[in-house]
Amino acid sequence: MKAIPSSEITPEEVYLSRRRFLKQALVFTGAVALAACAPQSVATNPPGDDGATATGSTDELGDRLTSYQDVTNYNNFYEFTTDKVAVARLSSSFISSPWQVQVGGLVESPKTFDLDDLRTRFDRQERITRLRCVEGWSMVIPWLAFPLRDLLNEVRPTADARYVRFESLYDPQQFPGQKDKWFNWPYVEGLTLAEAYNDLTLLATGLYGKDLLPQNGAPIRLVVPWKYGFKSIKSIVKIDLVAEQPTSLWMAAAPNEYGFYANVNPNVPHPRWSQASERRIGELGRRDTLLFNGYAEQVAELYRGLDLKANY
Ligand code: MTE
Repeated sequence: MKAIPSSEITPEEVYLSRRRFLKQALVFTGAVALAACAPQSVATNPPGDDGATATGSTDELGDRLTSYQDVTNYNNFYEFTTDKVAVARLSSSFISSPWQVQVGGLVESPKTFDLDDLRTRFDRQERITRLRCVEGWSMVIPWLAFPLRDLLNEVRPTADARYVRFESLYDPQQFPGQKDKWFNWPYVEGLTLAEAYNDLTLLATGLYGKDLLPQNGAPIRLVVPWKYGFKSIKSIVKIDLVAEQPTSLWMAAAPNEYGFYANVNPNVPHPRWSQASERRIGELGRRDTLLFNGYAEQVAELYRGLDLKANY
């Protein structure tokens, strides 16, 4: 995403060539080739996936779920590494329990939730959404999540609150990437209050019927499906209601490349590449990128009158 072009491209290339190799290998193995022709229902448990299940098998557009294997082995989590295919391994001993999320700032009733509170107090449901990374790849993920709105209703933002600011854990002992001084750690993200109250804005504590693994942002992460994936901040410890627009980690690192809004938009290229198309992980070829990642009906109203090019 930022000025580490080779590490951004190489792991993906390696990953892809590994997939291509596997695909070719499958052609020569009767049994697996047969499995590949079977209906692609992910509701079954692939061997080794340890009970990962989803009740749905597509999103509302009919796009198939990305496999559990891919969702948990191709990750962006710079606190561990910039190498997407190494995140799962390097994060395997991450300690995500006990965990607390402090919710405060401009609210009537600040609260600190611990993990059990979050898992039991809020009604978590399967929500299938697309995740489109600013780098040009995408997935379809069955989250276990609840609307951020439910949590905000418990703390009751005051009339002065205009934005929500999110912060990830700062712990260089557990997060070796935080020793990299290029970034202004901890990872920070933000939303307008209206975005935060939208029904699509979720706090996820699981996916594929299981609690989140470290690589996906255990124990709790944001999901904002109409925005580029970097807005979907992982391993959150702090949520503050604020009056001023928060400066995210990416805005601070490269303000000309990453703005506050980061809405998925095929018509607004990244300064270094086009956003007109994307590669869905698990598919060959590319597909057209949809305005607001296909969620225009639910969110376009939020940006009426806003210049989407200037407010990238
Ligand atoms: N959150 C934190 N704390 N650190 C990160 O590096 N990467 C972001 C986002 N959230 C990131 C993060 C980016 S760039 C993307 S595309 C998504 O997480 C990837 O989520 P996934 O690995 O679960 O697919």
